[in-house]
Amino acid sequence: MPVNIAIDGPAGAGKSSVSKLVAKELGYIYVDTGALYRAVGLYALNTGADTKNAAEVEATLPAIKVELKFLEGEQRVYLNGNDVSEAIRAPEASMAASDVSAVPAVRAFLFDLQRNIAAENNCVMDGRDIGTVVLPDAQIKIFLTASPEERAGRRYRELIAKGAEVDFQQVLEEMKQRDFNDSNRAVAPLKPAEDAAIIDTTGFSLQESAGLLIKHIRKNLK
Ligand code: DC
Repeated sequence: MPVNIAIDGPAGAGKSSVSKLVAKELGYIYVDTGALYRAVGLYALNTGADTKNAAEVEATLPAIKVELKFLEGEQRVYLNGNDVSEAIRAPEASMAASDVSAVPAVRAFLFDLQRNIAAENNCVMDGRDIGTVVLPDAQIKIFLTASPEERAGRRYRELIAKGAEVDFQQVLEEMKQRDFNDSNRAVAPLKPAEDAAIIDTTGFSLQESAGLLIKHIRKNLK
Protein backbone atom coordinates (compact mmCIF):
# COMPACT_ATOMS: atom_id res chain seq x y z
CA MET A 1 0.00 0.00 0.00
CA PRO A 2 1.40 3.42 -0.89
CA VAL A 3 2.53 5.71 1.91
CA ASN A 4 0.33 8.79 2.21
CA ILE A 5 1.38 11.86 4.17
CA ALA A 6 -1.39 14.41 4.74
CA ILE A 7 -0.41 18.01 5.37
CA ASP A 8 -3.12 20.53 6.19
CA GLY A 9 -3.08 24.08 7.45
CA PRO A 10 -4.02 27.66 6.66
CA ALA A 11 -2.89 29.66 3.63
CA GLY A 12 0.73 30.77 3.83
CA ALA A 13 1.80 28.32 6.53
CA GLY A 14 4.45 27.13 4.09
CA LYS A 15 2.61 23.91 3.24
CA SER A 16 3.49 23.82 -0.43
CA SER A 17 7.17 24.79 -0.12
CA VAL A 18 7.73 22.53 2.87
CA SER A 19 5.75 19.65 1.35
CA LYS A 20 7.74 19.88 -1.87
CA LEU A 21 11.04 19.57 0.02
CA VAL A 22 9.72 16.73 2.16
CA ALA A 23 8.42 14.86 -0.90
CA LYS A 24 11.75 15.28 -2.65
CA GLU A 25 13.67 14.01 0.36
CA LEU A 26 11.43 10.94 0.61
CA GLY A 27 11.19 10.35 -3.15
CA TYR A 28 7.38 10.73 -3.12
CA ILE A 29 5.20 12.82 -5.40
CA TYR A 30 3.88 16.11 -4.05
CA VAL A 31 0.19 16.79 -4.61
CA ASP A 32 -1.04 20.36 -4.15
CA THR A 33 -4.83 20.03 -3.84
CA GLY A 34 -5.37 23.80 -3.57
CA ALA A 35 -4.54 23.91 -7.28
CA LEU A 36 -7.70 21.91 -7.99
CA TYR A 37 -9.95 24.41 -6.19
CA ARG A 38 -8.07 27.23 -7.88
CA ALA A 39 -8.75 25.68 -11.30
CA VAL A 40 -12.47 25.47 -10.57
CA GLY A 41 -12.39 29.05 -9.23
CA LEU A 42 -10.57 30.24 -12.34
CA TYR A 43 -13.17 28.64 -14.61
CA ALA A 44 -15.96 30.36 -12.67
CA LEU A 45 -14.15 33.71 -12.96
CA ASN A 46 -13.46 33.28 -16.68
CA THR A 47 -17.05 32.43 -17.45
CA GLY A 48 -18.46 35.27 -15.37
CA ALA A 49 -20.15 33.06 -12.77
CA ASP A 50 -20.66 34.63 -9.33
CA THR A 51 -18.19 32.64 -7.22
CA LYS A 52 -20.18 33.41 -4.07
CA ASN A 53 -23.33 31.89 -5.53
CA ALA A 54 -23.25 28.13 -4.84
CA ALA A 55 -25.89 27.27 -7.46
CA GLU A 56 -24.05 29.23 -10.16
CA VAL A 57 -20.75 27.58 -9.26
CA GLU A 58 -22.30 24.12 -9.21
CA ALA A 59 -23.82 24.73 -12.66
CA THR A 60 -20.32 25.23 -14.11
CA LEU A 61 -19.07 21.78 -13.05
CA PRO A 62 -20.39 19.66 -15.94
CA ALA A 63 -18.31 21.77 -18.34
CA ILE A 64 -15.10 21.40 -16.34
CA LYS A 65 -12.39 18.81 -16.63
CA VAL A 66 -9.53 19.15 -14.17
CA GLU A 67 -6.43 16.98 -14.43
CA LEU A 68 -3.13 16.78 -12.62
CA LYS A 69 0.03 15.67 -14.38
CA PHE A 70 3.40 15.09 -12.81
CA LEU A 71 6.31 16.10 -15.02
CA GLU A 72 9.71 15.29 -13.52
CA GLY A 73 8.11 15.35 -10.08
CA GLU A 74 6.47 18.71 -10.67
CA GLN A 75 2.71 19.00 -10.59
CA ARG A 76 0.93 20.78 -13.46
CA VAL A 77 -2.78 21.44 -13.41
CA TYR A 78 -4.93 21.33 -16.53
CA LEU A 79 -8.31 22.93 -16.98
CA ASN A 80 -10.16 21.55 -19.99
CA GLY A 81 -6.85 20.55 -21.56
CA ASN A 82 -5.06 23.86 -20.93
CA ASP A 83 -2.15 24.17 -18.52
CA VAL A 84 -3.33 26.77 -15.98
CA SER A 85 -0.55 26.16 -13.43
CA GLU A 86 0.51 29.82 -13.51
CA ALA A 87 -2.89 31.47 -14.08
CA ILE A 88 -4.33 29.91 -10.92
CA ARG A 89 -1.80 31.80 -8.76
CA ALA A 90 -3.34 35.25 -9.43
CA PRO A 91 -4.83 36.86 -6.29
CA GLU A 92 -8.33 36.86 -7.89
CA ALA A 93 -8.03 33.11 -8.37
CA SER A 94 -7.11 32.70 -4.68
CA MET A 95 -10.30 34.35 -3.50
CA ALA A 96 -12.38 32.55 -6.12
CA ALA A 97 -10.85 29.24 -4.96
CA SER A 98 -11.78 30.00 -1.37
CA ASP A 99 -15.35 30.80 -2.48
CA VAL A 100 -15.87 27.71 -4.63
CA SER A 101 -14.24 25.43 -2.06
CA ALA A 102 -17.20 26.11 0.25
CA VAL A 103 -19.59 24.54 -2.27
CA PRO A 104 -20.22 20.86 -1.36
CA ALA A 105 -20.68 19.85 -5.02
CA VAL A 106 -17.21 21.21 -5.82
CA ARG A 107 -15.63 19.22 -3.01
CA ALA A 108 -17.43 16.07 -4.17
CA PHE A 109 -16.36 16.78 -7.76
CA LEU A 110 -12.66 16.86 -6.78
CA PHE A 111 -12.74 14.04 -4.22
CA ASP A 112 -12.08 10.98 -6.43
CA LEU A 113 -9.24 12.63 -8.28
CA GLN A 114 -7.41 13.18 -4.98
CA ARG A 115 -8.22 9.73 -3.63
CA ASN A 116 -7.10 7.96 -6.79
CA ILE A 117 -3.71 9.65 -6.86
CA ALA A 118 -3.11 8.71 -3.21
CA ALA A 119 -4.20 5.12 -3.81
CA GLU A 120 -1.59 4.72 -6.54
CA ASN A 121 1.38 6.74 -5.35
CA ASN A 122 3.55 7.34 -2.33
CA CYS A 123 2.67 10.98 -1.85
CA VAL A 124 2.80 14.06 0.28
CA MET A 125 -0.61 15.68 -0.25
CA ASP A 126 -1.37 19.14 1.04
CA GLY A 127 -4.66 20.97 1.47
CA ARG A 128 -7.22 21.83 4.12
CA ASP A 129 -9.13 18.57 4.66
CA ILE A 130 -6.64 15.90 3.62
CA GLY A 131 -6.17 14.35 7.08
CA THR A 132 -9.82 14.83 8.07
CA VAL A 133 -11.76 13.93 4.92
CA VAL A 134 -9.75 12.94 1.84
CA LEU A 135 -7.18 10.59 3.42
CA PRO A 136 -8.45 9.78 6.91
CA ASP A 137 -6.20 6.69 6.89
CA ALA A 138 -3.00 8.52 5.95
CA GLN A 139 -0.04 7.05 7.83
CA ILE A 140 1.17 10.52 8.82
CA LYS A 141 -0.95 13.63 9.40
CA ILE A 142 0.52 17.03 10.01
CA PHE A 143 -1.22 20.35 10.64
CA LEU A 144 1.21 23.08 9.65
CA THR A 145 0.57 26.57 10.94
CA ALA A 146 2.19 29.98 11.61
CA SER A 147 0.98 33.39 12.82
CA PRO A 148 -1.23 35.39 10.38
CA GLU A 149 1.43 38.14 10.11
CA GLU A 150 4.16 35.65 9.30
CA ARG A 151 1.96 33.91 6.73
CA ALA A 152 0.93 37.19 5.09
CA GLY A 153 4.59 38.27 4.99
CA ARG A 154 5.56 35.09 3.16
CA ARG A 155 2.73 35.39 0.65
CA TYR A 156 3.54 39.08 0.11
CA ARG A 157 7.20 38.35 -0.66
CA GLU A 158 6.17 35.51 -2.97
CA LEU A 159 3.85 37.81 -4.97
CA ILE A 160 6.41 40.65 -5.11
CA ALA A 161 9.04 38.20 -6.36
CA LYS A 162 6.67 37.30 -9.19
CA GLY A 163 6.36 40.98 -10.09
CA ALA A 164 2.83 41.47 -8.73
CA GLU A 165 1.88 44.89 -7.37
CA VAL A 166 0.48 44.24 -3.94
CA ASP A 167 0.11 45.96 -0.62
CA PHE A 168 1.09 44.09 2.58
CA GLN A 169 -1.96 45.26 4.51
CA GLN A 170 -4.21 44.04 1.72
CA VAL A 171 -2.47 40.65 1.64
CA LEU A 172 -2.90 40.37 5.42
CA GLU A 173 -6.60 41.28 5.23
CA GLU A 174 -7.21 38.78 2.42
CA MET A 175 -5.33 36.12 4.36
CA LYS A 176 -7.52 36.70 7.43
CA GLN A 177 -10.65 36.70 5.27
CA ARG A 178 -9.63 33.40 3.69
CA ASP A 179 -8.77 31.89 7.09
CA PHE A 180 -12.22 32.85 8.28
CA ASN A 181 -13.95 31.42 5.17
CA ASP A 182 -11.92 28.21 5.22
CA SER A 183 -12.38 27.60 8.96
CA ASN A 184 -16.06 28.46 9.19
CA ARG A 185 -17.60 26.80 6.17
CA ALA A 186 -20.10 24.03 6.80
CA VAL A 187 -18.35 21.33 4.73
CA ALA A 188 -14.86 20.14 5.49
CA PRO A 189 -13.78 23.23 7.47
CA LEU A 190 -10.09 23.72 8.07
CA LYS A 191 -9.22 22.02 11.35
CA PRO A 192 -6.55 19.61 12.52
CA ALA A 193 -7.43 15.91 12.40
CA GLU A 194 -7.59 14.45 15.90
CA ASP A 195 -4.49 12.40 15.22
CA ALA A 196 -2.52 15.16 13.47
CA ALA A 197 0.76 16.52 14.81
CA ILE A 198 0.53 20.32 15.00
CA ILE A 199 3.72 22.02 13.83
CA ASP A 200 4.07 25.83 14.09
CA THR A 201 6.66 27.27 11.69
CA THR A 202 6.60 30.89 12.94
CA GLY A 203 10.21 32.05 13.02
CA PHE A 204 11.54 28.97 11.21
CA SER A 205 13.11 29.04 7.76
CA LEU A 206 11.83 26.81 5.01
CA GLN A 207 14.75 24.41 5.45
CA GLU A 208 14.27 24.30 9.22
CA SER A 209 10.54 23.66 8.83
CA ALA A 210 11.12 20.86 6.34
CA GLY A 211 13.70 19.40 8.74
CA LEU A 212 11.15 19.35 11.55
CA LEU A 213 8.66 17.48 9.37
CA ILE A 214 11.15 14.95 8.06
CA LYS A 215 12.27 14.21 11.60
CA HIS A 216 8.65 13.73 12.67
CA ILE A 217 7.87 11.53 9.65
CA ARG A 218 10.95 9.30 10.05
CA LYS A 219 10.18 8.84 13.72
CA ASN A 220 6.52 7.96 13.19
CA LEU A 221 6.47 6.08 9.89
CA LYS A 222 6.34 2.38 10.68
O1 DC B 1 -3.69 26.10 -0.67
P1 DC B 1 -4.28 27.15 -1.61
O2 DC B 1 -4.11 28.55 -1.13
O3 DC B 1 -3.80 26.99 -3.02
O4 DC B 1 -5.86 26.83 -1.63
C1 DC B 1 -6.78 27.62 -2.35
C2 DC B 1 -8.16 27.56 -1.69
O5 DC B 1 -8.71 26.25 -1.85
C3 DC B 1 -8.15 27.85 -0.20
O6 DC B 1 -8.81 29.07 0.09
C4 DC B 1 -8.92 26.73 0.44
C5 DC B 1 -9.27 25.79 -0.65
N1 DC B 1 -8.83 24.41 -0.40
C6 DC B 1 -9.70 23.55 0.21
O7 DC B 1 -10.80 23.97 0.59
N2 DC B 1 -9.37 22.25 0.39
C7 DC B 1 -8.17 21.80 0.01
N3 DC B 1 -7.87 20.52 0.20
C8 DC B 1 -7.25 22.67 -0.60
C9 DC B 1 -7.59 23.99 -0.79
